[in-house]
Amino acid sequence: MVHLEQCNQPSCEDSDSIKKSTMESYDRQWMRQDEDAAAERRRRLSSIADPLLSMVNPLSGKVVLDLGIGTGSLAFRALELSPPKAMIGVDFSGPGLRVARTISKHAKFNDMDVELVRADLERMPIASRSIDVVLSQATLNLLPDKRAVFSEISRVCKSGARIAVSDAFKTSFSSSEGSWEQCIGGTITVSEFSTFALNAGLIILGQTDLTKAVKELISSGKWDWPEFLEYNMDYRAFMMMKSG
Ligand SMILES: C[S@@+](CC[C@H](N)C(=O)[O-])C[C@H]1O[C@@H](n2cnc3c(N)ncnc32)[C@H](O)[C@@H]1O
Repeated sequence: MVHLEQCNQPSCEDSDSIKKSTMESYDRQWMRQDEDAAAERRRRLSSIADPLLSMVNPLSGKVVLDLGIGTGSLAFRALELSPPKAMIGVDFSGPGLRVARTISKHAKFNDMDVELVRADLERMPIASRSIDVVLSQATLNLLPDKRAVFSEISRVCKSGARIAVSDAFKTSFSSSEGSWEQCIGGTITVSEFSTFALNAGLIILGQTDLTKAVKELISSGKWDWPEFLEYNMDYRAFMMMKSG
């Protein structure tokens, strides 16, 4: 087990209050987004979703799990590009899942197997060794207990499963005193991420730097995330595999 001395893990009490305010913040955000706004978000973020999905496509015949599905910008993009056998989306925001449920009933997705689960990503009601592909976009930073979520990813994955996640990362130029809800307070470095992955039995197969694409989305007003620029973050996509 490699130890993470630099990575500040909040206490249980702080963790609970971080999660409560994160949930309230996303409930408010998703309540304001109807299915058209969600489709627009999906279109706008496709420039970062597509490189992530290219790491695991084709998805045919696979059981796919999207961690922090929100209104489904990553999951429905995956269904558009390469429909899997089943897509399971987990999130703790009821309003986000409601929008995702409405979209899943559209003619385009109606005959696909989409299951939406309201749960905490640090304790998922998903069977062990049942998942072929894990996806996640801009979510892991929001989780106070990184060790728990990496261990959950490892538990639910079949041996050899692929994991493609993208998020903001702290660099030597970053300051992480920003808010948790904006994916800043909980950011970690690439080295800390790699250690969490290794300790959970995940092998890193590759990574792509998407910082330029994210900066362009923010500068052109397509992604309302000024904190990413303000706190000098990087944005990377990682491809991993669950070891035997
Ligand atoms: C920035 S949004 C990203 C949504 C989606 N992946 C996308 O790219 O559009 C983060 C999502 O993670 C969810 N989330 C954050 N912490 C969570 C937790 N502990 N358990 C379950 N969902 C969580 C939020 O409710 C929110 O929908």
